[in-house]
Amino acid sequence: MKIVTVPHPTLRKVAQPVEVVDARLIKFIKNLEKTLRAARNPGGVGLAANQVDKLHAVFTLQFEGDADQPALHQTLINPLIQDHSEKLILGLTPTDRAVFEEGCLSMPGLWGAVPRWSEIKLRYQLLEQGQLVMKTAVFTNFIARVIQHEIDHLQGILFTDHALQHNLPVYLKTKKGLLEVDKSNLESF
Ligand code: NI
Repeated sequence: MKIVTVPHPTLRKVAQPVEVVDARLIKFIKNLEKTLRAARNPGGVGLAANQVDKLHAVFTLQFEGDADQPALHQTLINPLIQDHSEKLILGLTPTDRAVFEEGCLSMPGLWGAVPRWSEIKLRYQLLEQGQLVMKTAVFTNFIARVIQHEIDHLQGILFTDHALQHNLPVYLKTKKGLLEVDKSNLESF
């Protein structure tokens, strides 16, 4: 599948809950996973349905693991943040001194640090043997950030919206280095 980029209108729409598992949904999930695995320059850790022009409340993760969380190669369906830390952080962990620049396969070349909760409790469904199975899990730090970014996609929200809201810089990666972009112009890249 093709990954759509700004200003594609589907990136601004709200995805609809998945209610029925059928052959089309199963095929869609396989294709979404394949599309994320094939993404290069940049590669991605997550990909939401809106980014391939579909409005299913589904995103996929290809996460290789870190100190907080083992590897996670799963497709999460109907995700809902049930609870979250009070603390919003700009880095990968609450104690990081450096900010973490988020990027997005639908906004190629753009990077920026945005605040995210350091921990979330998530309710979601997985497809297991052709059935939707309810799960609840707590995610922290980097993977919590990725999941918040993907859930935003399902709501039609882009990471740069948070940069605008909090008046944080967004950068365009060029051969000369990172250049701060004019945020009135964010959807034309
Ligand atoms: Ni994204």
